[in-house]
Amino acid sequence: MVDVILGLQWGDEGKGKIVDYYARQYDIVARFQGGPNAGHTLYINGEKVVLHTIPSGIYHAHTLNLIGNGVVIDPVILKKEIEALEARGVEVKPRLFISQKAHLILPTHRALDKASEQAKGKERIGSTLRGIGPAYMDKTGRNGLRVGDVQLAHFDKAYQTLKKKHLELLSHYAFEDSIEEEEKAFLEAIEYLRSLQIIRAEYRLQDWYQSGKRILAEGAQGSMLDIDFGTYPYVTSSTTLAAGVCTGLGLSPRQIGEVIGVTKAYCTRVGGGPFPTELLDTTGEQLRQAGHEYGATTGRPRRCGWIDLVALRYTCMLNGVTQVVMTKTDVLDHFHTIQAGIAYRLNNQEISEMPFYLNEQVIPVYQHFLGWKQPVSQVQHYHQLPEELKIYLSFIENYLHVPITGLSNGPERHQLLQRTAEAMAD
Ligand code: GDP
Ligand code: IMO
Ligand code: MG
Repeated sequence: MVDVILGLQWGDEGKGKIVDYYARQYDIVARFQGGPNAGHTLYINGEKVVLHTIPSGIYHAHTLNLIGNGVVIDPVILKKEIEALEARGVEVKPRLFISQKAHLILPTHRALDKASEQAKGKERIGSTLRGIGPAYMDKTGRNGLRVGDVQLAHFDKAYQTLKKKHLELLSHYAFEDSIEEEEKAFLEAIEYLRSLQIIRAEYRLQDWYQSGKRILAEGAQGSMLDIDFGTYPYVTSSTTLAAGVCTGLGLSPRQIGEVIGVTKAYCTRVGGGPFPTELLDTTGEQLRQAGHEYGATTGRPRRCGWIDLVALRYTCMLNGVTQVVMTKTDVLDHFHTIQAGIAYRLNNQEISEMPFYLNEQVIPVYQHFLGWKQPVSQVQHYHQLPEELKIYLSFIENYLHVPITGLSNGPERHQLLQRTAEAMAD
């Protein structure tokens, strides 16, 4: 059995927390795409942990954790992450596997990311500057270095060749940073990488699958940041959709079972690009404060707005979502009214499909809801939720044609209400 948990919006939906919660039911947790642009936050007994490359199952001692071939790995960040977890007493090395086919992020990839963003000026993507775009460009351009290469004799030469190519590219930009220090850390981290369990992951996953192990695939970023179907060009460089599970792990489409889509009760975005339901007023600021909406990777303030059901229905469709989990419902506790985007108005017409460009001429049409105006973070059973919140949830599931099976009402691991069949009938 392979189930998937992924984000349905523009990232930061709370995937880390949800994966950590569900991981108790799985034997293997596997990341299938993205890289250290991700920041997945877990709160375990009041302690905050942010994971960038390591799967969010790592805090469950019984799980094995796999970084799949679809991921791009910055060895420096990976090393720091492992060391930080081990310092907290989490056993990582014996439980972490890395696909030999995952690509490496070089210091010059980070430099290229920065140079490219600087050159774009106002049109910049707002990248996390982790070298993600350039690393995936080398992958598809067939120039990349993979984790398996670090075990082979040609590695040093191949690294020098690729670095030279990058330095030539960088010379076309007004870019003067030195990479010497970073290169030293990189080469040390490569040595460290050699001590980790680098495996032929597609075969091992099949072995695990055939022997009845339960596998959970963890997405990074969000569906609206997908390279093909997101708000291009303001997207990331990987397939963030469920389709990425197959290419990013080597599993077949027939092996995928449940696709659990995570959405916030409202919506955020970090970086550039369209966001029709964005609130640039005090309500948006209220959401940012109540939701502590600052990036887990870069610390940037996140743009905030109402939930966008047109976008959500689109991403449920693209992923074949079978269940929705809603996070951060507690953030809306103090709002008198809550709104949900249910259509777009474009050229005086109401549309319910995602247009080719989501530009500023696309105006959201809202449905209004009464707020519940009471704290829900201590609620322990779905049936105890305020009526107004139930109405909001029921409208959303009817709109999406997908059941909301889980509701997160706080950042802590235990703050999640699972909806029973009985509550579904409610
Ligand atoms: P991810 O990238 O999808 O894993 O999400 P992030 O970790 O970047 O951002 C989600 C933030 O919301 C983190 O700070 C979480 O601790 C927090 N969070 C997750 N679920 C809830 C929730 O239900 N309520 C509240 N208040 N915070 C939550
Ligand atoms: P998690 O997994 C939110 C955004 C960046 C930028 C665009 C491209 O924590 O949800 P990139 O560095 O990938 O080239 O940046 O994508 N972005 C994210 N936004 N959450 C993320 O990851 C993101 N990863 C990338 O802000 O707009
Ligand atoms: Mg995040």
